[in-house]
Amino acid sequence: MFDPNRVCFFDTTLRDGEQAAGVNLNADEKLQIARQLEKMRVDVIEAGFPAASPGDYKCVQDVSRELKNTTVCGLARTREGDIRAAAQALAQAQRPRLHVFIATSPIHMEHKLKMTPEEVLAEIRSGVGLARSLVQEVEFSGEDASRSDADFLIKAFKVAVDSGATILNIPDTVGYAMPEEFFKFCRKVILGVGAPEGVIFSVHAHNDLGLAAANSLAAVKAGVRQVEGTINGMGERGGNSAIEEVVMAIKTRADYYGLAVNLDTRRLYPVSRMVARLSGVGVPPNKAVVGSNAFAHEAGIHQHGVMANRETYEIMRAEDVGCTPAVMVLGKHSGSHAFRARVESLGYNLDDPQLAKAFAIFKRLCDEKKEATDGDIEAIIADEIFSVTPEYHFELKDYTVHVGSGLAAAAVVLLSGDKELKDAATGNGPVDAAYLAIKRIIKIEPKLESFKVVAASERSDALGEAQVILSHKGLKAQGRGASTDVIKASVKAYVNAVNRLYSVAAAREVHLNGD
Ligand code: KIV
Ligand code: ZN
Repeated sequence: MFDPNRVCFFDTTLRDGEQAAGVNLNADEKLQIARQLEKMRVDVIEAGFPAASPGDYKCVQDVSRELKNTTVCGLARTREGDIRAAAQALAQAQRPRLHVFIATSPIHMEHKLKMTPEEVLAEIRSGVGLARSLVQEVEFSGEDASRSDADFLIKAFKVAVDSGATILNIPDTVGYAMPEEFFKFCRKVILGVGAPEGVIFSVHAHNDLGLAAANSLAAVKAGVRQVEGTINGMGERGGNSAIEEVVMAIKTRADYYGLAVNLDTRRLYPVSRMVARLSGVGVPPNKAVVGSNAFAHEAGIHQHGVMANRETYEIMRAEDVGCTPAVMVLGKHSGSHAFRARVESLGYNLDDPQLAKAFAIFKRLCDEKKEATDGDIEAIIADEIFSVTPEYHFELKDYTVHVGSGLAAAAVVLLSGDKELKDAATGNGPVDAAYLAIKRIIKIEPKLESFKVVAASERSDALGEAQVILSHKGLKAQGRGASTDVIKASVKAYVNAVNRLYSVAAAREVHLNGD
C-alpha cells in the first residue's frame, strides 16, 4: 500500500545494471544477488527484460519463483510480444509487476521510434492496457522523460493511468538533468497529472554528469516516492543512481527529507561487495557509502577529532551500512558449521552440495596458507561455485609455463565436453604465452580489453583474483579466476571470459567462430 511518508526502492541491478559494458552475470549469480536484495528489503527487483534474451527471461522466471516478499518486475516495450513474454516470465511471482516503457521526448519519438506524439499515446494505451489485463500491477516509464515536453509527458501519464498503470516513472535516461531544474520538472508533472488514487511517482536517473543521486533526491523532494537505481551505481555509460547513496542521504538527512525507508541499510556493504565481485566491476576506494575508504580517516587532525567525538568528521556510522571489521578469520581447524555461518554472514546462500564443494576448497587453501579471510572465502565462492555452469564450453584441465630471460612459453590443456584440446605458444611473459596458447585452441582471437590481478584481502598471502574482459565480434564478456598462484588465476579468468563470451554469443545468436 502506498505510504506518502515512505520512499520505496526499486533495484534494477539485474536489468539496467547488467547493461554495463562487459558485464554478464549467469543465472546462479543473478539469483544470489536477488536473494540478497530481498534480505535487504528492497521493495522491487527488476530482474530483466524477458523479450530481450532467453537469459533475461530465465532470470525473471527464476527470481519470480524464488522471492516471497519483494515485488518482482519484468521490463517490456509497448509491443504485444514483449508484454506477453514479460507476463509469462512473471507468472509464478507472488508479487509481479510489469514495467512498460516507450520514449516520450521529441528526439526519441522522431528519430528512434519514427512515430508522431499521437501514435506514441496510442501505443501507451494499447501496451499498458494489455499489460494490465495480464498482470495486476503495471508501471509505465516515459523514456527520456527529462528531455520531454512536460505537457506531453503529463498527457502520456494520464493515458497510462487511464489504461491501468499505478506507478509512473520519470527517467533521466541520458543523465542530462540538473537537480534544481529536475525538481521543478517533476513537480510540474506530478501536479499536472493530479494525484489519482493509489498512483505513485517514480524516478530513474542516470549518472552521465555525476548527478544521478542528486537528481533522484530532487525528485523525492518534488513528491516522487519510488527511487530506481542499482547497487554501486552499476550500469551503462556513467551508470545509474546508486541506491546506497540515495537511501543513506534520506536516512542521514531525515531532518531535511522527513521520510521513512524500509531498507535494511546494514546489508548495503555486503551486497555491494557481492555485486562488485560477481560483476567484475570494482568499487572505487573513495566511492560514497561503500568505498573501502568511506570511513577511513587519514589526516591526523581528523583522527584526533573522531577520537574526541565521532561526529566531528563522520556523518554516518560504518555499522549502519554493514561495514564492520571481520569478527574472525577461519583456519585449518575451523569446521563446516563455522564455515557455513561465515558464508551466510557474507550474504551468500549456498545449497548443500555447493557448500560442501566450497568447504573442501577452503580446507585445501588452509593447507597452503594457515588462515582464510572473508575476501578469500568470497573469492572461492565467486570463482569455484558461480563461475562454473554446465552450459560452458571449455574447462581448464592443466597448464604449464616456463619463463626464460625475455621469453616465456606456455602449454595449455582444455576440456571441451569429453575432448581434450591442447596447444602451446611463446610470449612476452607467462600470462601472455598462456593466452596465446588458449587462442590457438579456441580458434578465435578475442581482444583483451582489460586485465587486472587484485589481492582478495589486504594480507600478503591472500588469494590472487584475476579479472579479464574480452571482446569479439562486437560482444564483450568478463571473466574471473582465483588462486594462490596469480598465473593460474589469470589463466582461469581468461577461460572463464571465453566461456561467458560463448554464452553471450548464443543468447544473441552470433557465431564466434568463422565469418
Ligand atoms: O533509462 C531508462 O530510461 C530506462 C527505462 C527503460 C526506464 O532504463
Ligand atoms: Zn535506465
